[in-house]
Amino acid sequence: MIDLTVNIAGIKMKSPIILASGTCGWGLEYKGLVDFNKVGAITTKGVSLYPKEGNPPPRIAETPCGMLNSIGLENPGVDEFVKSLPEIKELGTKIIVNIFGESKEEIFHLVEKIEGVDGIELNVSCPNVEKGGMEFGRSPEITEELVKGIKSITHIPLIVKLTPNTDRILDVARASEEAGADCLSLVNTYIGTMVDIEKRRPVLGKISGGLSGPAIKPLAIYTLVRVREVVKIPIIGMGGIMNWRDALEFLIAGADAIGVGTALFSDPTTPEKIYDGLKKYLEENKIYSILKIINTLEVKDG
Ligand SMILES: Cc1cc2nc3c(=O)[nH]c(=O)nc-3n(C[C@H](O)[C@H](O)[C@H](O)COP(=O)(O)O)c2cc1C
Repeated sequence: MIDLTVNIAGIKMKSPIILASGTCGWGLEYKGLVDFNKVGAITTKGVSLYPKEGNPPPRIAETPCGMLNSIGLENPGVDEFVKSLPEIKELGTKIIVNIFGESKEEIFHLVEKIEGVDGIELNVSCPNVEKGGMEFGRSPEITEELVKGIKSITHIPLIVKLTPNTDRILDVARASEEAGADCLSLVNTYIGTMVDIEKRRPVLGKISGGLSGPAIKPLAIYTLVRVREVVKIPIIGMGGIMNWRDALEFLIAGADAIGVGTALFSDPTTPEKIYDGLKKYLEENKIYSILKIINTLEVKDG
């Protein structure tokens, strides 16, 4: 028997495979496409206290080896999410709700409205909004206040999603842990710009967007290894995971679970393929638990 189960900050999952925020809606869109028996958890699209329209189009562009998006956190607000929760639960996997807000007060009020989910992922890393998002996640002080505030309101495990668009990511990671975060997730997208040479304008409706997909994988793993060295809490690693080999790289490098995002757009069966691939790899190598793989990166001295 091969054991792929993991327990991330008290969230017991049937596999370390998590659908990344913003790439699977609320999971319902993937009913019948994704095999949820092999998915540890879904992370919802970012939810805010009030409905949000998002950014002007175009909001998505393909890049070599990835994509650029500037959705701007469009969503119908937390009340609609709460109404859909019973249906989302029927998917039969753990539910992590990704949240964001433009002020501390807004975020705290939002958290007060959330119950019945398995985890809360605080998005302090979106590069596509004017207020909140990455602006918060670049500051260890603001992140600490947010985490302390949320932890005083709810007992639901709290995951802090970090931005790689800062040279202070280690400080933000440490501040999150010290303030009581139960888990970190990284990375959110890397800020980038594409130019339409005919129109001499940015390709997206905004100047910039967030880069995701295989292009960012080595950058994400580098960040993971550095953050792993400075915190003890679990980390959900993501950024360009397209197959089981990529997933294994993140697990070896120190991720306790992995997020699959952009890959879902080209192949919604990626999670089950990763599950099957990891299982086969463990079987062939006579390793009976995925836990034996996690954080086993050997670094040569010097
Ligand atoms: C279209 C799109 C929407 C996203 N929306 C969110 C979001 O609402 N909240 C969030 O924390 N991350 C969001 N992300 C970031 C992803 O969850 C993930 O961190 C990132 O894309 C890197 O993983 P990937 O390369 O596997 O896509 C979004 C990414 C994409 C591509």
